[in-house]
Amino acid sequence: MYHGRIIETGRYLPEFNVSNDDITKLVDTSDEWIYSRTGIKNRRIAKDESVVYMAASAAKNAISKCELDSMNIDMIVVATVSPDYAMPSVACMVQEQLGAENAFCFDVNAACSGFVYGLDIIDQFIKTRKVKNALLIGVEKFSHLLNWEDRDTCVLFGDGAGAVIIEATETEIGIIDTQSRSIGKQFEALVSPLNNNDTPFYNESSEAYITMDGRAVFQFAVTKVSALLKEVFQTQNISADEIDIYVLHQANSRIIEGIAKRLKQPIDKFYMNMESYGNTSAATIPIALDELNRAGELIGKTIALSGFGAGLTYGTAIVKF
Ligand code: COA
Repeated sequence: MYHGRIIETGRYLPEFNVSNDDITKLVDTSDEWIYSRTGIKNRRIAKDESVVYMAASAAKNAISKCELDSMNIDMIVVATVSPDYAMPSVACMVQEQLGAENAFCFDVNAACSGFVYGLDIIDQFIKTRKVKNALLIGVEKFSHLLNWEDRDTCVLFGDGAGAVIIEATETEIGIIDTQSRSIGKQFEALVSPLNNNDTPFYNESSEAYITMDGRAVFQFAVTKVSALLKEVFQTQNISADEIDIYVLHQANSRIIEGIAKRLKQPIDKFYMNMESYGNTSAATIPIALDELNRAGELIGKTIALSGFGAGLTYGTAIVKF
């Protein structure tokens, strides 16, 4: 049976760096507070880059390494909740930049779970043989959604993009399992409203930014992500020990430590880079995969991926490289 296999990775991170010390000039916080609670020290901010630019740059980075002809890309999925425009989709605008004229394209709104949701969706299209080659991008520009006077949220996020190329394969290597879950009744825990204009008929104008119940999100992430990983291990008849590297959403080092504890796994099996980039939402997992790939750390490994975020949404994939 056909399934998807990640054959190449790429990333784009804006040049402009904002450290915790830089943020202390904006809000009442400290490097010590941010780092000890989140593991974050720096984040990149897209001062000059649009979401489409970051997404297309990450995609070009991946495509250039595997010599894939853009005309052979059948499907482009972009995971994002911070697009430049409500329409068209980021995916359609990336298609234009790549000249991938044969692809069908759409965005997925699953917040920080967007990349694993996208992997799940693409794998289904590959399994039903509708798609041979797909491009999946996770990209976010949360800097334009944040209230930079709100210390509860502005210290956590960063901008960036990661991309993977997925091809159909019949080998044992590739996407072994994917699971996507949602808990809509907890949607209020993490919200980013749209800033609407007044109309001649009703008044809807607002200046609204991201709000978050940090403790609720923390609790949800640790319990649900570890439970779903255990469920997938059971379904696949593998143990947590058989996973070589855990690449979880890079929201917070303490969340990852909590999940590692519940899975009884050593923390050094859990990749972490939030110190450098903060939480780039849908982009954290593909950026991490590209860093591992560049370091030659993916080949021959079995990797567990997990995303979690607004919705609330969460999802997991087991991938053999
Ligand atoms: N700097 C300094 N103090 C801050 C602060 C900041 N940036 N942000 C909040 N505080 C203050 C609070 O106002 C509170 O003060 P008070 O006790 O006087 O009311 C105090 O720090 C403790 O806040 P609390 O919310 O209890 O901290 P916490 O230990 O729960 O850590 C988070 C807060 C946000 C770091 C933590 O809840 C978390 O990581 N949650 C998950 C968030 C996340 O990852 N979201 C994205 C998911 S995709």
